[in-house]
Amino acid sequence: MDPKRPVSGWLNRRTLTVTLVAIGLAGGAPSATPVRGERMSAIVYHEYGTADVLRLEEIEKPEPEEGRVLIKVRAAAANPLDWHYMRGTPYLMRIESGLFKPKSPRLGADIAGEIVAVGASVTEFKPGDEVFGTGGGTFAEYARASVKRIALKPANLTFEEAAAVPVAAITALQGLRDKGHLGAGQKVLINGASGGVGTFAVQIAKAFGAEVTGVCSTRNIALVRSLGADRVIDYTKEDVTQSEERYDVILDNVGNLSLSAMKRLLTPHGRAVLIGGGGPEDGQWIGPMGRALRAVLWSPFLDQKFEMLLAEINNEDLNLLREMLESGKLKPVIDRTYALHEVPDAIRYLETGRARGKVVIAAQPAD
Ligand SMILES: NC(=O)c1ccc[n+]([C@@H]2O[C@H](COP(=O)([O-])OP(=O)(O)OC[C@H]3O[C@@H](n4cnc5c(N)ncnc54)[C@H](OP(=O)(O)O)[C@@H]3O)[C@@H](O)[C@H]2O)c1
Repeated sequence: MDPKRPVSGWLNRRTLTVTLVAIGLAGGAPSATPVRGERMSAIVYHEYGTADVLRLEEIEKPEPEEGRVLIKVRAAAANPLDWHYMRGTPYLMRIESGLFKPKSPRLGADIAGEIVAVGASVTEFKPGDEVFGTGGGTFAEYARASVKRIALKPANLTFEEAAAVPVAAITALQGLRDKGHLGAGQKVLINGASGGVGTFAVQIAKAFGAEVTGVCSTRNIALVRSLGADRVIDYTKEDVTQSEERYDVILDNVGNLSLSAMKRLLTPHGRAVLIGGGGPEDGQWIGPMGRALRAVLWSPFLDQKFEMLLAEINNEDLNLLREMLESGKLKPVIDRTYALHEVPDAIRYLETGRARGKVVIAAQPAD
């Protein structure tokens, strides 16, 4: 298969897009445009594999491009999408990321930092602005970002806290609002309430006025309650699929609920939003997509709706999140913080599937 060949046919294009986005790749592969000049430290990988393929190297510092800014990375955060890129799994994503080896050696999407230069035609931001959002290859001292995928950093957050927000919180927001149509007074079940997406989803659902049930393990009950969940189901003690409760919305971050179980748990016109799921060893070809695609194909024949999320990082939603963060309705939960050279350990930890909130790459000093 030639990675440069356009994917032909609706099904292929759609399947690829849906696969990449459902594992959180909406921003596309990190940019690898060659540049001249100063050097910087960055995490790079030249082959797919476990976190052992990641190296801290000195590479050329990027320069801003048309429509993009150059950010001094003050902090970054890890997401499951990073290990998907690192491993090149599910294999379907390699059509975009490189068939036999990564097209771009850079890794990392979430970013909080200070703009140090702007590209041609950029009027929205200026050097010195403190921003958060997503960029290309943010496990580095500097990274480029599109002006469409950044916003001014919430004033009351540290860089580490701000970096924890973009991918996970936007996924939670768009899942609950755009796909779940969650409204005040409705009941929502958040499966995987203690992870990166889940900890934001519990708080956003509460901010929408919903009645929230979170599913997590025993050690995370207090955390999920503290985020505002009205009820917590400990999956080590109780099988949520046997619950008598009915939900208007299910947000599934884990991917372990069967379609029939979700159908039973939903109200007659309820909506299930399939965010993701699966670990590094699961579903090497299409990953969590098999179940999600089946659900979406069934959905038109049912009163209940099964939706996949196509999370899109955009500055409108980043600004909305900024307001929620500044007004205290939302607070990032940070589990562990790693230094830039410890990114391989950060990814290894995330891959265990046990993260409680976000895994952050520590703040670097200003220039
Ligand atoms: N569609 C999109 O656009 C999009 C965007 C972002 C992420 N995603 C996907 O969404 C998924 C979640 O992302 P994330 O960042 O939240 O991952 P994460 O932070 O790695 O999730 C870890 C959490 O999952 C919990 N968990 C594991 N097994 C569970 C189970 N059986 N029941 C309930 N909770 C369980 C763990 O809690 P315990 O330790 O207590 O088990 C842990 O707190 C990933 O598959 C990711 O790829 C999709």
